[in-house]
Amino acid sequence: MQKVRVGSAERMRGGLRVPGDKSISHRVAMLSSLATGTSTLSGFLKSEDCLNTLYAMAAMGAHVSELKGGEIRVEGTGGVLRSPGKVLDMGNSGTGMRLLTGLLAGFPIEAELTGDRSLLSRPMKRIQHPLHEMGASVALLGANGCGPIRISGGRLHPITYTLPVASAQIKSAVLLAGLSVDGEVCVIEPEETRDHTERILTALGYPLEINGRTIILHGNPDRLKNLPARDWKVPGDFSSAAFWLVAAAMTPGSEVTIERVGLNPRRTALLRVLERMGADLQIRADAENADWEQTGTVTVKGGSLRGTTVCGKEIPNLIDELPLVAVAGAVAEGETIVADAAELRVKESDRIASVCRNLDLMGCNVEERQDGFMVRGGPVAGGVTLQSYMDHRIVMAMSVLALHAAKPVVIEDVACVATSYPTFWQDLETLCGNVIG
Ligand code: S3P
Repeated sequence: MQKVRVGSAERMRGGLRVPGDKSISHRVAMLSSLATGTSTLSGFLKSEDCLNTLYAMAAMGAHVSELKGGEIRVEGTGGVLRSPGKVLDMGNSGTGMRLLTGLLAGFPIEAELTGDRSLLSRPMKRIQHPLHEMGASVALLGANGCGPIRISGGRLHPITYTLPVASAQIKSAVLLAGLSVDGEVCVIEPEETRDHTERILTALGYPLEINGRTIILHGNPDRLKNLPARDWKVPGDFSSAAFWLVAAAMTPGSEVTIERVGLNPRRTALLRVLERMGADLQIRADAENADWEQTGTVTVKGGSLRGTTVCGKEIPNLIDELPLVAVAGAVAEGETIVADAAELRVKESDRIASVCRNLDLMGCNVEERQDGFMVRGGPVAGGVTLQSYMDHRIVMAMSVLALHAAKPVVIEDVACVATSYPTFWQDLETLCGNVIG
């Protein structure tokens, strides 16, 4: 689909399950491919991004197939990988490219990773630096410290590394490289970031010491050859559920329930932000999955919202939801401020610029700042054509705002939504009726 026209919605009612968590899907694809034995991945996100990671692992020796029920079956390699013999295309995915670079750096193989225009403009020195300190050979083939990336894998050393920015991708790249190390790999993060890598490794019985923002992995090449296979039930992606939680919270008379969604405490700060804004939320934890990644049901009832400030250590916990905070702020009473979020400038697009330009076009009162933005709530005029900036989360966030606009809104180049949420438009129709023209 190249462009879409979204009209306004009266109110939203209903329930759904969102597709599987993107961050978790990448990680279980990588680790079950290395395991000894056969893993089954149910709820795996079959979006372009995560499928690219699976294809990459298959090119290096894993056997991947799809079962009748839609689950993915992965026969692991027992901790060995072969050179892929072709360039691995990671598409749009920073997670795929950064985590895989870390993982491959310690294997005796040659690999080259590439991606689309957006991915090849994203900073990769942030992973090259710690990996070089570990003794890896990682070359950045693009200009200005960007990919493609060429990895000539080899022996890596232990490291203690303090992350310069709060980034789960950098943390995970170092931890995954640590699997090939004989010795301790210690990562210290400036703020807590999503901890899916740590949880998955712990669920596999891999020894990790976690003390607040310090993580120590006890690397051991023999252990890497004996990672157990297992069945993974991937939770629904909280970042995908977030579109409906915000859309319903903004619309008086709405009530939306999302089931089996991931409720990892390092991912769900948006719930606290929505509560501060006055949203009526009900959260129920599921009994299953709690040993690994908590899931649950979230119900939100719509009402009027008030502005809030989001900054400091809350930022990494809702980094992918910040475009939606701007959208909620656009209809909330008073000012909504996002600060300390300069990392948004190096996402799939410069999300501070793309959010502010689109809100401005929609007739909202928005001020761009170096590390965030300020939005003053008011009427949303709409009746315009918006750019996607080839960024899936910008398209979906702007579609939520369009539900509130006085006049229908056209969004161009929306195919990028398939990188993280292939059924987004169907789910929009399910919850809002005929709003897509
Ligand atoms: C991710 C971490 C975050 C997030 C991205 C997924 C991950 O990026 O924005 O969508 O899976 O580890 P950073 O770690 O670069 O902030």
